[in-house]
Amino acid sequence: MSKLLNGNEISLGTCYYPEHWDKSLWREDLERMQKVGIKTIRIAEFAWSKVEPTEGSFTYEFFDEFLDIADEMNMRVIMGTPTATPPAWLTSKYPDALNARKDGTLFRHGMRRHYNYNSENYKRLSSIIVEKFAKHYGKRKCVIGWQIDNEINCEIAEFYSESDDMAFNQFLQDKYKTLDALNDAWGTVFWNQTYTEWEQVHIPRTTVQGTVNPHQTLDYYRFISDSACKWVKMQADIIRKYKKEEDFVTTNGIFGHVDYRRMRDESLDFITYDSYPNFAYILDGYDKDDSSFRDRKWSRNLTETRAISPIFGIMEQQSGANGWNTGMAAPTPRPGQITLWTMQSIAHGADFISYFRWRTAIFGTEMYWHGILDYSGRDNRRLKEISDIYDKIGKISEVAGSTYVAKVAVLKDYDNIFDSELDVWHENVEEKSQDAIFKAAQRSHTPIDYVYLTERITEKDLLKYELLIYPHMTMVNESFLPILEEYVQDGGKLVIGCRSGYKDMEGKCTMDYLPGKLKSLTGNDIPEYTAISPDAGDVYIKWGKDEFKASSFADQLFACTSTAKVVGSYEDDYYEGFGAITENKLGNGYVYYYGSAFSEEAAFVFLKNLGVINPFNEYFDIPDEMELAIREKNGDKYAFVLNYQRKVQNMWLKKELKELLSGSIETEEVIMQSYEVKIFKL
Ligand code: GAL
Repeated sequence: MSKLLNGNEISLGTCYYPEHWDKSLWREDLERMQKVGIKTIRIAEFAWSKVEPTEGSFTYEFFDEFLDIADEMNMRVIMGTPTATPPAWLTSKYPDALNARKDGTLFRHGMRRHYNYNSENYKRLSSIIVEKFAKHYGKRKCVIGWQIDNEINCEIAEFYSESDDMAFNQFLQDKYKTLDALNDAWGTVFWNQTYTEWEQVHIPRTTVQGTVNPHQTLDYYRFISDSACKWVKMQADIIRKYKKEEDFVTTNGIFGHVDYRRMRDESLDFITYDSYPNFAYILDGYDKDDSSFRDRKWSRNLTETRAISPIFGIMEQQSGANGWNTGMAAPTPRPGQITLWTMQSIAHGADFISYFRWRTAIFGTEMYWHGILDYSGRDNRRLKEISDIYDKIGKISEVAGSTYVAKVAVLKDYDNIFDSELDVWHENVEEKSQDAIFKAAQRSHTPIDYVYLTERITEKDLLKYELLIYPHMTMVNESFLPILEEYVQDGGKLVIGCRSGYKDMEGKCTMDYLPGKLKSLTGNDIPEYTAISPDAGDVYIKWGKDEFKASSFADQLFACTSTAKVVGSYEDDYYEGFGAITENKLGNGYVYYYGSAFSEEAAFVFLKNLGVINPFNEYFDIPDEMELAIREKNGDKYAFVLNYQRKVQNMWLKKELKELLSGSIETEEVIMQSYEVKIFKL
């Protein structure tokens, strides 16, 4: 049985870099970790040169010496494969291993993730080093699992090297077989792009205004994902030859242009996520005036992680300030926030939390990316907080192995995700709706899941949910339609938002009446549509007693079957009186088509009117600034209530409940201190 995420315990870890510290610190560091309850470390993911300092000469002593201590101290070790940072000898001898900018300029040595997945030399040298690592260290007692590479597609998720160009060409030849098929799929007759020889076909390159054929870009994103998945599989296959049976294989983080469902199914036992909630202060969308979703937004990433990997851990949990010398500066977690974020991860299903990193690096790009300890390593407030967290997870050990409970799911698929990244019309509604649905669900204490539609999904997977929302099913993968129809026939409710059904799987627009292939589900017709004009002012929709603002777009709807009817209409602009929401009764369930993008209020009204809002209302009255998350095991439910605010807030319990961290029975008014988390057993 795996030593992590086996359903028996919630445990703590940290990221450790033996190569950054004098050996004299190793033993003491591990002892101090154990004292605060840290049982697992991840090591070596950037340390290629320590094992292969020059090409073909392998020396294992460095990590052997470290692992001897780890073995002796019963520390558990997750070994990283070091391929995210090829050594200098490699990139100077084999420049084809480097990734490039769109104009072909190579990314030179000095940063990380400067390689590409398709260089034959890099694949060969990487498979050698992975094999050496797995063969030499794999049977160690202390080793409990493997992390492949580090954060696939982080920092850069596009590849323009010669190797990628050639591999893309081959990918297309395998896919389309003939140039006629490719020309047709890409609509190359437009702007004279017709290809007459395979040599003319390339990855997207520098063009006027950076505009590239959209169908080509879609295939290009699929190609990047395919390359990344094959890269991880190559390593996983090697590791599995040598690892101990019970040891796991994972990789960390979620980044762009990767079909993680495929990657997980093909290569991984589970995904681990890297959670840095104070990134909220650095990212573009940072809103100075609204603190309500800053770090709480990370719950959305955790929901995403759960969708990819129902069992997951956190490989890097923020424990200090974010910071590189070249950018990114965020505050140190305030007292209580490391606990809050740890519990946020646990609330969403993680039973392993590993902090990044033990001691802050004293050199290099990341010397301001603080870990638990500062440079001197002296005991500090954050170390004390982690020790307290260890006590806390001891009190909630029965939660281990439980699953997150949601009655609502948002449907996704990677083709539509890739399409929304290359198509601003799609992106515009997609980003708004995803944000709004997440916030409406959070504020109304309606737990949600994300569910990826894949070839493997069954009706049973969907029937767990009373409501499914597919915000913008722009491209229609017909193979998913029967399962969606079955779900509705058997009593499910499905909501589909605007701009759905108008593209095929190549990203070309259909000439069918809209919503194209979705018509048999929705029973409606969309003769006209428009982006809501900036001149239109607020456009309202009325649905029964509810009135709310349309957002971004207005599909104008008519019901066109005997089972469908218009239930909501626009109240403004030239489409006043036209349908904004249709309802189609199919078997025992309903399909709703909503002609706009979701605003928070619109999402709220859908949750309310379709009877799924705030399902734990009989227990709690919680201010909307707090999150409620429920995990369940063997019929017991555990309710996590998280106060993301610095201010003290009150909540109300409608029943007497046991709070696991204090061990006391609580009822009626409950005071939640700044950043406090309570866990009630229902
Ligand atoms: C992660 C990465 C770590 C470290 C950390 C702080 O993205 O996996 O290696 O770089 O960020 O920047």
